[in-house]
Amino acid sequence: MSLWQQDFAVFSLHPELKYFDSAATCLMPKVVADAMHYYQCFEHANSHKGLYPLSANATKTVEKSREKVADFIGASIGASNAQEIIFTASTTQAINQVAQGYVKQQINALAIKDRVANVIVSEAEHHANLLPWQILSQETGVELRIAPITLSGTVDLKALSLLLDKNSVLVAINHVSNVLGTVNPIAEICQLAHKKSVPVLVDGAQAVGHIKVEVEKLSCDFYVFSAHKMYGPTGIGILFAKQVYLEQMQPLIVGGGIVTKTSFTEHYLLPAPLRFEAGSHNVAAIVGLSTAIDYLTAIPLAKRQNYLQQLSSYLIKEMSHLSFIKPLLAFEQLTTASIFSFVVDGVHSHDVASCLADDNIAVRAGHHCAQPLHRKLTIATSIRVSLGLYNSHADIDKLIISLRKVQQLLTIT
Ligand SMILES: Cc1ncc(COP(=O)(O)O)c(C=O)c1O
Repeated sequence: MSLWQQDFAVFSLHPELKYFDSAATCLMPKVVADAMHYYQCFEHANSHKGLYPLSANATKTVEKSREKVADFIGASIGASNAQEIIFTASTTQAINQVAQGYVKQQINALAIKDRVANVIVSEAEHHANLLPWQILSQETGVELRIAPITLSGTVDLKALSLLLDKNSVLVAINHVSNVLGTVNPIAEICQLAHKKSVPVLVDGAQAVGHIKVEVEKLSCDFYVFSAHKMYGPTGIGILFAKQVYLEQMQPLIVGGGIVTKTSFTEHYLLPAPLRFEAGSHNVAAIVGLSTAIDYLTAIPLAKRQNYLQQLSSYLIKEMSHLSFIKPLLAFEQLTTASIFSFVVDGVHSHDVASCLADDNIAVRAGHHCAQPLHRKLTIATSIRVSLGLYNSHADIDKLIISLRKVQQLLTIT
């Protein structure tokens, strides 16, 4: 059994569950749920509004959490600080904020000068890091350039450097692919882009829960992620943006809590971060995120990483013995990331996932919101196994047994 499985109350109700869908959302440790419950029962109030103690306490909770997030992603060293941390609803919302609030303005400024701007993404993006740029392209005519990936599943740096030019306004790239589990060389990508004075947005949704993220060291300009992929709740995400971009960015959503002065005809915005957090904060979710950070940081990083790497290696080794399994990346290219996607020749991935579900095994089947990547790999769908701290070698053994059963049931040769 995993050292940490007992931290997740769901297993007391579902002892047979083998949960391999952490890339979709991680299960929540009881301490996180308890902290949210406590806040909602005993401390709930609107933050940044009331002068009474309950509200002042909620404000303090939000601002302390902001500092904790900044520390967690290395945004409180060097030139960065907690004021560069924006609370959003999700990774998706954070990317839309950058697309509509910052990049659109840059494009318009370039267009005035009669130049066609371009935004560069990779072939392996989640739709959350593709559609906002497609919409922007439809709205403004910005050219969407697609950087290819190599056989090892990471961005082709040579090709990327050829795509970058003086009209590039942003590189938007995933840190860890939600399909392939590959880790992109973000520091090198930032170096390449910065040589041409192009900022870089990193979609860290699949990274923060697994690897050490230090935005200052990576030198990225924007970093986005969601709490629910790092053992926190849904409904809360983070946009880290360097101060210089925050000053140029307009809020995507406007309303209460973001102005110094308003009349019927005009308004004056507060400085960042509050100008980007219109409406009431989702304080319970912020408490959940903050507690998830405490949960993760209480476990030494090396211990967590080693455990998941060992599990990944075991999963890959065991999978490689199943002749009917075709991994999306060749077995020899697979590293020890916690995500493994594959197809079973001649069988729809939904059929495989349904059979596994009958054995209480939860995997993801489909295109995982990465249809263009699947198309490039000339497949429609795949099955994704993704690992979390609650998984164990025994879970993987069960998965392998179940896959063998699927093979027999569906008479795969
Ligand atoms: C790489 C990546 N980016 C973005 C997202 C979107 O995250 P959210 O649904 O929390 O906005 C996901 C979710 O699976 C993801 O894996």
